[in-house]
Amino acid sequence: MNTDLTTMIVGNGAIGNLLYVRSHQAGQPCRLLCRQKLSQILEVTCLDGSKHTCAFQSDEPEALSQCDILILPLKAYQILPALDHFSVLLPVHTTLVLLHNGMGTAEQVMQQFPHNPIIAATTTHAAFKPAVNQICITGEGATQAGWLRQSLQPKRIEQHLSSLLAPCHWHQDVFAPMWKKLAINAVINPLTALYQIKNGELSAPKYRAEIEALIAEVSAIMTASGYPGDEQELLASILSVAELTAGNFSSMNRDRFYQRQTEIGYINGYLVKKGQELGLNTRLNAELVQRLSC
Ligand code: PAF
Repeated sequence: MNTDLTTMIVGNGAIGNLLYVRSHQAGQPCRLLCRQKLSQILEVTCLDGSKHTCAFQSDEPEALSQCDILILPLKAYQILPALDHFSVLLPVHTTLVLLHNGMGTAEQVMQQFPHNPIIAATTTHAAFKPAVNQICITGEGATQAGWLRQSLQPKRIEQHLSSLLAPCHWHQDVFAPMWKKLAINAVINPLTALYQIKNGELSAPKYRAEIEALIAEVSAIMTASGYPGDEQELLASILSVAELTAGNFSSMNRDRFYQRQTEIGYINGYLVKKGQELGLNTRLNAELVQRLSC
């Protein structure tokens, strides 16, 4: 579908690369914005194992002046620094699309960019990068999205993003699916990172008591924040995601393994902050934050 909207993707991460490849395959190329100029041939391995290549070239930051939709598929802690970096060139009509694990950036971006339309989204499309010029697509997922601040032409933008992030479900209150995703990430990510195991290994009985205790804490915080999270339903969703992604290492597992900064502050750290504001017990989440922050 051609909507004549100029879309730019920020950064060179797995999900950003995946969207770039998908848009090129669909004949509606996105543009790319990186801190440093990038020009390479990306080797793509599809879900069915087939391989092909995609020329990958970043734009000059000045191209932002024509940007209608800016997608930020970054780590949560990279969102504000990236936006700060490009802010002088960012037109006020550009819709910002926050697409990352964890929560807490929405409030900050709304405050710092008081005029731009903003969308928050969460996706289960999955890919990883075995090397800087390679991407391996590992899961055909779905996207949940919603406006935090609406643009003057919401339908055009929604249509455009729906084809790029398909299947894409639009929500009046996007925080509802975001809280569910946060609950899943708050259990799978820190535990697979701490024990250095694949997602599927979490179904083993030896982890069940720890998972259930963590879910009890998370569920109380979610529910008191206005997003009811039934403990049994959360357990079922977590085990189902662990099963569906059994052979994968979670993003936090890899960050820990490669000694990179993790998103713990925006996942369990966000829960600790919310729980403390509400006067709730946050002991287990706080312990995980402490153990995985370095
Ligand atoms: O962060 C991740 O790795 C993913 O969001 C999830 C759902 C835990 C699956 O690996």
